Amino acid sequence: MTHKNVPRHIAIIMDGNGRWARARGLPRVEGHRRGVESIRNLVTALSKQEDVKYLTLYAFSRENWKRPAKEVGFLMRLLRYFCRRELKMMMKNSVRFTTIGALSSLPKVVREEVRKTRQATQDNDGFTMCLAINYGGRDEIVRAARRVARRAASGDIQARSINERLFARHLQTAGMPDPDLLIRTAGEMRLSNFLLWEASYAELWFTNVLWPDFRMEHLNKAIRAYSSRTRKYGAVEDTR
Ligand code: IPE
Ligand code: IPE
Ligand code: MG
Repeated sequence: MTHKNVPRHIAIIMDGNGRWARARGLPRVEGHRRGVESIRNLVTALSKQEDVKYLTLYAFSRENWKRPAKEVGFLMRLLRYFCRRELKMMMKNSVRFTTIGALSSLPKVVREEVRKTRQATQDNDGFTMCLAINYGGRDEIVRAARRVARRAASGDIQARSINERLFARHLQTAGMPDPDLLIRTAGEMRLSNFLLWEASYAELWFTNVLWPDFRMEHLNKAIRAYSSRTRKYGAVEDTR
């Protein structure tokens, strides 16, 4: 079997919207607005190829509530418009839209729009785009632990049968493969609480490109870098 060394699941920490705007003397929110175009661009292109099947995008972290109320409000509205406006593009390209993160604390209108888009696209099987909204990696793990604990307390499972595989089935990302390649834009080199469990063996790639400027040429560069790496998972390189 020939094995093509391409990532099946790519996760991106979309960063640098504020800096993009500041560099142009524009308000931060303008950077967020332009960032949506990067998303549309990548999703449209990725849905037309056969290698990458999952794209998970960090759109709003649990920590992002600390931003000024006006910016948070704008991001919420943008999310709602994104779901509404891009539905046509998703249907046309057979994109399944999913989310991870605690949606229950989002404004009701946003939650509803997200739910509608998820539902409308659930049978699309070309490509999966997953938005992390009000997402935190530790929070996701704690919620999974709570579910597992409840099942154990009710006698549904035995404590000794809890292993990594069972645990992962209780994460919100259950059903998706772990990300193979994790990208962060805008020169920052940290995870900021993103996919802490799932990215345990992801290949990392950082770029100084700001998110509103990020296009397929940059993604292709990251994919090429990925392809040239050797994933060893703790073993030794096969030199036979
Ligand atoms: C990323 O851009 C978008 C979100 C976190 C929602 P930033 O808004 O963090 O941009 P910088 O880091 O201030 O440049
Ligand atoms: C991470 O970016 C969150 C998202 C991309 C949604 P931030 O810009 O919020 O992260 P920090 O504050 O630099 O760690
Ligand atoms: Mg940032």
